[in-house]
Amino acid sequence: MRVVDLIRRKRDSGELTREEIEQLIAAYTGGDIPDYQMSAWLMAVVLRGMSRAEIAALTGAMLHSGRVLDFSDLPGRKVDKHSTGGVGDKTSLVIAPVVAAGGVKVPMISGRGLGHTGGTLDKLESIPGFNVNLSLANFRRVLETCGCALIGQTAEIAPADKKIYALRDVTGTVESPALICASIMSKKLAEGIDALVLDVKTGSGAFMKKVEDAASLAELLVETGNRMGKNVVALLTDMNQPLGRTAGNAMEAAEAIEALSGGGPADLRELCLELAGWMFYLGERVKTVDEGKKLSAELIASGHAREKFREIVRLQGGDVGVVDDPRRLPRARQTLGVTSPADGYVAGTQCEQLGVACVVLGGGREKKEDTIDPAVGLEFHKRIGDAVQRGEPLCTLHYNAGGRLDEARRLVETAYRIEPEEPKAIPPLVHRVIGA
Ligand code: URA
Repeated sequence: MRVVDLIRRKRDSGELTREEIEQLIAAYTGGDIPDYQMSAWLMAVVLRGMSRAEIAALTGAMLHSGRVLDFSDLPGRKVDKHSTGGVGDKTSLVIAPVVAAGGVKVPMISGRGLGHTGGTLDKLESIPGFNVNLSLANFRRVLETCGCALIGQTAEIAPADKKIYALRDVTGTVESPALICASIMSKKLAEGIDALVLDVKTGSGAFMKKVEDAASLAELLVETGNRMGKNVVALLTDMNQPLGRTAGNAMEAAEAIEALSGGGPADLRELCLELAGWMFYLGERVKTVDEGKKLSAELIASGHAREKFREIVRLQGGDVGVVDDPRRLPRARQTLGVTSPADGYVAGTQCEQLGVACVVLGGGREKKEDTIDPAVGLEFHKRIGDAVQRGEPLCTLHYNAGGRLDEARRLVETAYRIEPEEPKAIPPLVHRVIGA
């Protein structure tokens, strides 16, 4: 195999065979192909797409680049959820303990921030000591002990995705249904689950901006999961504005703890109940999704979900004190407010720009080697449809290093669209459910 031939074939809209894809993935994972060649191939895939057969081969090759876990000897159904990525999306931190508290096991393998979107692993690591790099034996032990464990891809699980994900993050090669599908499903099919709930985001802060593109991605994900014998459902959810009140790792961890304690913003709570409701349903814990939502609300109100989160944090080496006092999380030293330039209503946000502003402040990566500042982020004061007065705060930037503050401020200032009239329609939180 000459890698340059595979790059050129994809560049010219040709199709690769299963064997070629398997060799390419194995060679890159083994360190035999340099990043620049893999980046070129990934870019060709973004621009030219892949056939269904190629996507299946890529997913299979990435899945089998590592071990496929088997938890069938542990009692009960195992269910996970995964998001295609958004701004302020901290639902995993809430849902995983809720569902585990309700008796359905959640073995969760998550990702880091990707492009302008945040990642569950980075959010968890903002909790001092929290270890997302458990060995597989420890992953299993934590899962057995408390019904939930959250880790990243390891050298053993989908290592191809670990490498390719980091490369895509910094080479503008995220926005491809084929690559997103292979990335998500290779991790999820490796984690020994029976069923999966997908949160496919759509809107200005999602990788799939148009509802129809998100729906095609959702269908592809559901089909790929079904083909591998998993029960999969995809909720198409809105990302035309950030979810909740914050974006930024520690700020989001604090907000998730608030939601687990029965508070938190309404949109975050509603989406968490919806996703957890589906997980309970696919986990055969309840007969209907509504029953699952009710159970989720009860587990939060009774304190069981929060207690479960404390247990997870303890078992994964984190500081449990943050669950009682989120002020123990890293906090930025400085803040800067962005205010409304006019009286009127928030008519929309360029949500991706808000995500980029968070990255620019140090909350995400622009190069593979970048380290994240867990404390920085954005605090949102207004949502679409809210009335604002000139000079009223729209968003507060929390930062440590001021080097790129102006750039971040400009991104935030131009992300809000203020109109004199109240918007006629507010985007629904859930657009559609696919695969139900
Ligand atoms: N989440 C993933 O795990 N991979 C992607 O490519 C996008 C979102």
